[in-house]
Amino acid sequence: MSKSARWDLKDNESKHLPIYQHKPKLIQAVKNSTFLVVTGETGSGKTTQLPQYLHEAGFCKNGKIGITQPRRVAAITVAQRVAEEMQYTLGREVGYQIRFDDCTSQDTVVKYMTDGCLLREILADPGLSQYSVVILDEVHERSLNTDILLGLLKKIFSNSPKASKSRSFPLKVVVMSATLETDKLSAFLSNCPVFTIPGRTFPVTCTFGSAVGPKDTESTSYIKEVVNMALAVHTSEMAGDILVFLTGQSEIERACDLLFEKAESIDYRYDVQDQTVEGLLILPLYGSMPTDQQRQIFQPPPPGIRKCVVATNIAATSLTVNGVKYIIDSGFVKQLNHNSRVGMDILEVVPISKSEAQQRAGRAGRTSAGKCFRIYTKEFWEKCMPEYTVPEIQRTSLTAVILTLKCLGVHDVIRFPYLDSPEERFILEALKQLYQFDAIDRRGNVTQLGELMVEFPLHPGLTRAVLKATSLGCKDLLLPVAAMLSVENIFIRPGHPDKQKEAEKKHRVLAAKSGGTNDFATLLTVFQSCKSSDRPSEWCKENWIHWRALKSAISVETQLRDILLRLQQNRDIPKETFDGKKSEVFRRCLCTGYFTNVARRSVGKVFCTMDGHGSMVHIHPSSSLFDQEAGLNWVIFHDVLVTSRMYIRTVCPIRYEWVKDLLPKLHEVDVYELSSVARQEVTDEEMTKWDTREAAKRQPEVSKEEIM
Ligand code: CDP
Ligand code: MG
Repeated sequence: MSKSARWDLKDNESKHLPIYQHKPKLIQAVKNSTFLVVTGETGSGKTTQLPQYLHEAGFCKNGKIGITQPRRVAAITVAQRVAEEMQYTLGREVGYQIRFDDCTSQDTVVKYMTDGCLLREILADPGLSQYSVVILDEVHERSLNTDILLGLLKKIFSNSPKASKSRSFPLKVVVMSATLETDKLSAFLSNCPVFTIPGRTFPVTCTFGSAVGPKDTESTSYIKEVVNMALAVHTSEMAGDILVFLTGQSEIERACDLLFEKAESIDYRYDVQDQTVEGLLILPLYGSMPTDQQRQIFQPPPPGIRKCVVATNIAATSLTVNGVKYIIDSGFVKQLNHNSRVGMDILEVVPISKSEAQQRAGRAGRTSAGKCFRIYTKEFWEKCMPEYTVPEIQRTSLTAVILTLKCLGVHDVIRFPYLDSPEERFILEALKQLYQFDAIDRRGNVTQLGELMVEFPLHPGLTRAVLKATSLGCKDLLLPVAAMLSVENIFIRPGHPDKQKEAEKKHRVLAAKSGGTNDFATLLTVFQSCKSSDRPSEWCKENWIHWRALKSAISVETQLRDILLRLQQNRDIPKETFDGKKSEVFRRCLCTGYFTNVARRSVGKVFCTMDGHGSMVHIHPSSSLFDQEAGLNWVIFHDVLVTSRMYIRTVCPIRYEWVKDLLPKLHEVDVYELSSVARQEVTDEEMTKWDTREAAKRQPEVSKEEIM
């Protein structure tokens, strides 16, 4: 097919989208006011078309059009699609930027990016002087960064659209949402106008299943069930594509393998109801998938072939797969939640909300009537599924965003305009952590260290460890580790038992190479060995390491190094000296970032965390320290996995004396102090009282034998 013919096709396609009829009015609406809420059914063309309309209308004369997405994959695939539709090369006029991957250039005028990226840009340029329009997309998802952006843009631009000397023209802010809560959004943005794109939707019949009931919230039987259901739909329903909602990458890959295996044995002469159906094309769809594979999702399947996309929640609103007639809903989602038992954020599988289930079902009714098969019972719906999804801001750690706000000069972080306020204790928890990491002082002001920390797109603890290593002249030890912990899991765990044994053996060899007792050091060894190998991808294959993950770790490390170099040139990073073994200095650096994650052996294989929660934890079987008992009394860990037990992962043995002076900081501040600091209500007199008062240093009680 020639290029122009393809363009015609795409052009016609986009003219059939519901948004097309409203093009002139929409452009006018954006021109008329500073803030505008645009709402319309998922798939109506908001994300891909509106930026093109505004580009056509000349908005780019004054600056870029920036569109934020809560999800990385969405930012990439949509930018690709729009570049194609506009016939530009991706990365030139149309580009995208996500954390650690910038695909834009000097020429970029339509820029898709994650909400986190725009937040970083505001830090460097609060007036957003490079933009003529900023579009916050997928606001109904209520991601933490989008919520913060909403508050910030309201604060900066609602009284003065020009808002800064660096701007020569007023900024336009468009907020896009799939139907929900538009009145609330408009009220929040000084009663701004709401533009509704009327949608066409067709009825979707929903049926409940019998496989998952209220007692099954912790089992993973839903994987098998969705596979069975997909197979049943494939064989007994008329032609039309299937969209399966599952939880995450590994579950999706397992389901695809299972489905493939079972679909192989179908005899299309006898087994299928609709004789026009001659095959099944199984496609996974999740966040960290290679982009060329993602593109396949949007291609129509060959004639006679039924497409079955097995996706995470990303297919609920961020991406629209055309041709879907059947939905299979597992009823679960993988979500980052703050776990107050452990005092940190944990990725867990939880039942979806009822509104989420309705959104999932709706994906079957875009072009004709559809069907939604829920594998869970009516009782599960009634007893286990909440009405609405709780916004991320009310369920995850606020440490990084509070530091960003403080660096932007927003000191009263309690009375910041939140669309939905987080609980005060979450804000105080974040302030406490920032104080513990020395990112803010007792008065709540950002310290020099805090100003350095905010520059890194990493967890504050990890940043602090990197900065400590820089001071001690050993950043080469810590940068790779920080990079490795910022990408998806790098160790391959094959499903087949024999292969699994082989992989584990290889991984044990890698661990042994780094001393065999420190998972952080193993990460460093893997990084260094792979990078110095002549054929790194081969090396990964031999050692059962995900090459793609490692490749991103290598690129992340370079970027972190660049940030650090820039800071070293412009700012003062103190220098320190240390005489000692390399492995000790490495672990000491880790301690400065992970002293909030210290655990000490309690009895047998049980460890007890030292952060005041006193949780009982076990070392995860994937750790090289899993079987070691002798001499292992104090450890630090990267994260916690909660299943029937609480497991700590990526573990490193330490000495008590290395954290002795840091641990008291975990108990130093009291909530009353923080609450007044957060509100900016502390009088100088009070402050002096606190400053002079001896901080309540509750040292953990430690016996002599344990100090090693
Ligand atoms: O943002 P909204 O949900 O309103 O719609 P959209 O994402 O702009 O999608 C409009 C159309 O573009 C849908 O039919 C999508 O399937 C299609 N699309 C595509 O084919 N490839 C992409 N990478 C993104 C969207
Ligand atoms: Mg969209």
